[in-house]
Amino acid sequence: MKGLVFTELFRHVEALHGANMVDDIIEAAQLPHNGGYTSIGSYPFQEAVALLVALTQATGKSLPDTLDGFGTHCFKRWVNYAPHFFTQQRGLFDILEGIDDFHETEVRKLYPDAELPSFRSEQRTARRLILGYYSCKPLSALAVGVIKGAAAHVNQPVHMECEPAANERGAYTRITITLLDS
Ligand code: HEM
Repeated sequence: MKGLVFTELFRHVEALHGANMVDDIIEAAQLPHNGGYTSIGSYPFQEAVALLVALTQATGKSLPDTLDGFGTHCFKRWVNYAPHFFTQQRGLFDILEGIDDFHETEVRKLYPDAELPSFRSEQRTARRLILGYYSCKPLSALAVGVIKGAAAHVNQPVHMECEPAANERGAYTRITITLLDS
């Protein structure tokens, strides 16, 4: 996992709970290198799991809720890399249907060895988009949080539901995104 995700997690935790909490979770996670991450470095996913578990233990919040909030934080930060891609004119569904291309072109330029997820559009109507989320990591709650951030950014409130699914590519998560009346 890219160091960027870890540095954003620390930024998010500091904003919500203060700098001491960042130190506390780094200590509790018993990391091999005392929590020093560079954004372009790559680190074992297990370290992110250890930090997230330490965070849930410290806050009492569930892991999905924690990932959801962190995902929204990530979107608010990541949107600054490419504000022209996330415009109200494009609309949420076009943005989400283009996210694989965005990850594979723009994000790849910055992080050639990133392990990026894939989002496959399964069904789209004016009000509903069904996206398949494929990843080697169980981070659908993070994806939901990132999508919520994108929805708020383009001013299109949504309701989302996740369900486990499988096809010829293996297991994945089906995310149903429904636009609410704004
Ligand atoms: C609606 C927009 C986006 C969605 C839904 C999304 C979703 C995700 C998710 C769920 C992950 C976690 C990795 C996984 O699931 O395997 C991820 C990773 C990542 N995304 Fe995105 N993302 C979006 C936009 C962006 C933008 C704008 C950037 C610009 C920098 C970005 C850069 C990254 C990077 C660097 C990673 C880490 C990959 C790694 O750890 O190897 N994403 N994204």
